[in-house]
Amino acid sequence: MASTQLIISGLIIFSIFVGVEGSNGYYHYTVDQCRFSSFDLSDLEYIRSMVFNNDQDIVFNSTVGKYVGYTEHGVQNAEEWNKLPGELERMRGEKERYCRRNTQNDINYILTKIVEPTVRLRLRKSSSGDQPAMLVCSAYNFYPKMIKLTWYRDDQEVTGDAISSEELADGDWYYQMHSHLEFTPKAGEKISCMVEHTSLKEPKELVWDSSMPEPERNKIAIGAAGLVLGLIVTAAGFIYYRTKARGRILVPSG
Ligand SMILES: *[C@@H]1O[C@H](CO)[C@@H](O)[C@H](O)[C@H]1NC(C)=O
Repeated sequence: MASTQLIISGLIIFSIFVGVEGSNGYYHYTVDQCRFSSFDLSDLEYIRSMVFNNDQDIVFNSTVGKYVGYTEHGVQNAEEWNKLPGELERMRGEKERYCRRNTQNDINYILTKIVEPTVRLRLRKSSSGDQPAMLVCSAYNFYPKMIKLTWYRDDQEVTGDAISSEELADGDWYYQMHSHLEFTPKAGEKISCMVEHTSLKEPKELVWDSSMPEPERNKIAIGAAGLVLGLIVTAAGFIYYRTKARGRILVPSG
């Protein structure tokens, strides 16, 4: 009978404690954490912390196995809760009940998920005067976050100031990364960007054709198209002229 009362009073203390939230600008909150650093969950730890106005006053840490108070009020409560029959067993069980199942799902469905990046190498800026040119090597929509983009000029790794990178979270679990290379073009040299990601069996190499930068290629393509169009028009005109001329000869003039 006495123990039942203790449990009940304990539960009341507990629920009042959790329940007084947000009124009159004060706030109390409880955070449950499952912490682990290895996929076999050998170091899995369950932590429940209770915070009042930014001050953590009680913590249950599964490795410690009991409540520990950090404020005067917290110490009092911790002492009382630690004596509640069944309370510590229940809390110690949370590591298996609550944490193992959830973290195993995190591991199975999120942490081991691998998505290959879409990669692209393009010229951002051609060199003009003494301004260097800029290439951008981009990787889109990949997971997990860890990725490596490396620049090579004639198979020699480029390091230092010539390179700047930005890594962005798309906000939907995917990431993108852009690496910029500033360079002064040299005829016939090979520039490449090497992408390494856990989704790729071997690094992916993107090679820049430095002999003919993109704008030049476009100019040549437009020029060639113009030439072909000109030839067609000329040929058509010539055929038209010939037909007309022959027609005039065939029809006897009166
Ligand atoms: C839980 O307690 C263990 C043992 O004292 C400690 O090593 C660990 O850092 C604690 N965890 C947290 C999140 O404070």
